[in-house]
Amino acid sequence: MRLILLGPPGAGKGTQAKMLKEKFQIPQISTGDILRQAVKDNTELGARAKTVMDAGQLVPDDIVIGLIKERIRQGDCKTGLILDGFPRNIAQAEKLSETLQDMNLAIDHVIDLEVDEGEVIERLTGRSTCSECGTMFHRVSRPPKVAGVCDGCGGKLAQRPDDNRETIEERLKVYSESTAPLKEFYSKQGSLKTVEAKGSVEEIFSLVCEMIE
Ligand code: AP5
Repeated sequence: MRLILLGPPGAGKGTQAKMLKEKFQIPQISTGDILRQAVKDNTELGARAKTVMDAGQLVPDDIVIGLIKERIRQGDCKTGLILDGFPRNIAQAEKLSETLQDMNLAIDHVIDLEVDEGEVIERLTGRSTCSECGTMFHRVSRPPKVAGVCDGCGGKLAQRPDDNRETIEERLKVYSESTAPLKEFYSKQGSLKTVEAKGSVEEIFSLVCEMIE
């Protein structure tokens, strides 16, 4: 199964992608995670991406398309994949289709997680992430047992630099200008399914699974 998770910042793409990865045993490919790892590792790519990410803008298409092409050709993607945060605009979606076609593959489902702006701001300003294993927490909906410490691995929890109000607003603007048009793009191809992503993480997961099984 090949699946794209669409939705604004904070819609729950990463949360749902991790659960789908466990259930279906297929890799989660998050361009945001790949880019954040490059920033953490101080690579040349990380240095180029950091300023753009901190400003809430999109990293140039040639960089992310290159990353994705390389990643989906790896052996673990043979049985399927979950794309989380890619594509982000029409140009990326077209390149993805071309790349998959060259491999005789196609996307089976595009799930759009819909949430309103107020909920996005609440989710992102309350989010913290483990700097070791990447597990996500939320001040209200999923608080860690010990403040600032990951329940799973004991790593230190940190807030993402782009999870401040000003940058969240910029990310939402970029989403509506560049990413939201993908809904029409995939709807025309007949692969778009929309999930009202309000409610608990588990409720949303059930709805997503119903749509793809
Ligand atoms: P990326 O990492 O992709 O960030 P995003 O799209 O802004 O999405 P988020 O990771 O913020 O949110 P999410 O939808 O995954 O929600 P989550 O599950 O974490 O991209 C970051 C940056 O990288 C971009 O701005 C750009 O610069 C660059 N980039 C990445 N991909 C790119 C591309 N393809 N092209 C160009 N540039 C690219 O949940 C959020 C919070 O809510 C968590 O605390 C969670 O616990 C909580 N939560 C989740 N579900 C629920 C629920 N149902 N109820 C209550 N709380 C919930």
